[in-house]
Amino acid sequence: MARRALITGITGQDGSYLAEHLLEQGYEVWGLARGQANPRVSRMRKLLSDVQVVRGDLLDQGSLISAVERVQPDEVYNLGAISFVPMSWEQAELTAEVTGMGVLRMLEAIRVCSGVSRGGSNASGQIRFYQASSSEMFGQVSETPQTERTAFHPRSPYGVAKAYGHFLTQNYRESYGMFAVSGILFNHESPRRGAEFVTRKVSLGVARIKLGLATELRLGNLEARRDWGFAGDYVKAMHLMLQAANPEDYVIGTGRMKSVRELVEAAFAAAGLDWERYVVTDQTLHRPAEVDLLCADPKKARAQLGWEPSVSFDELVAMMVESDLRLLSDGADPDDDSWP
Ligand code: NAP
Ligand code: GDD
Repeated sequence: MARRALITGITGQDGSYLAEHLLEQGYEVWGLARGQANPRVSRMRKLLSDVQVVRGDLLDQGSLISAVERVQPDEVYNLGAISFVPMSWEQAELTAEVTGMGVLRMLEAIRVCSGVSRGGSNASGQIRFYQASSSEMFGQVSETPQTERTAFHPRSPYGVAKAYGHFLTQNYRESYGMFAVSGILFNHESPRRGAEFVTRKVSLGVARIKLGLATELRLGNLEARRDWGFAGDYVKAMHLMLQAANPEDYVIGTGRMKSVRELVEAAFAAAGLDWERYVVTDQTLHRPAEVDLLCADPKKARAQLGWEPSVSFDELVAMMVESDLRLLSDGADPDDDSWP
């Protein structure tokens, strides 16, 4: 019988790549979708017609229990979150509820539905749980590169909420013997990335300028450095973590860091443009507390899961710029239309 996976956050970037990957592996894939007439569900269905949808919301405990009862999954991937860091200052309580408490509700749904009790230790036959933890938890980093043992110092309400979800996942593993793991994923991007994140904002900005649809691109802090990889590679790591013999947490990243300035240079160059003619820095886009740099040490994932990234930074930037040039040339609306 096909293995069954339930993915929260199915309408997001990672949900789409993970669903594709699991379908290719022969899984029956279910996605948790919220809202009465969520337009992102139809975008997802256009790309992933084989995914079955179950209604539910990370804010609603009963809906998660019903979803787990209905789907009877072998694996649950909790990707649902408010994931845009600046929004977490504007709606800190909502971020805590969805990104933090949502993890508790999902773990409780699994625990209740599978009858796991305190002190349980038999991991066989259990629903395996993946939590989408984040390098944003490292925040003001205490060492570089960051490993599974690096201390957390989150710098945003989002990072704090993710740290709660991370520790709770560990705690359910230790308290109930659940097969519950966290992937501490560094920034990963793609042509399906939300337009609010810097890589996509830049690739869309470059495409608009190249096609004569805009004359400038406004950005915040150009000196921040990130470890950027391709989302299609990172979802494979999520799956591998749930196939491992033991439940453990892993850092996933490329081990290479680039600045926003270098991202901008590469993206404009990919379209044959000189970035300095078009980029305007805007203080209002700076954050109340910035994460200056993030860089992964993915040795554990390489050694224990055999995971390696396959797309370089330059290839990723070129892929995103080319995709947005095609999208806008076709007259599509980047917020609305089909995913590439
Ligand atoms: P994304 O594109 O922003 O997707 C977020 C998903 O969460 C959407 O499907 C959204 O659904 C869903 N969601 C929001 N509120 C919800 C609620 N109340 N109940 C149920 N679902 C809800 O994020 P992503 O880039 O795919 O990232 C996936 C996960 O990995 C997130 O948890 C993110 O924090 C984490 N992460 C991402 C990165 C990265 O670089 N991409 C790195 C580390 C960790 P709607 O369509 O209904 O809004
Ligand atoms: N979004 C955005 N917009 N970021 C900008 C801009 C801008 O105009 N200008 C400069 N930046 C800088 C931000 O200050 C930040 O330092 C960096 O670009 C990356 O910003 P984002 O792309 O918004 O990503 P993030 O690092 O804050 O968060 C992403 O990665 C985390 C993992 O480290 C998100 O996907 C999180 O959900 C994820 O956990």
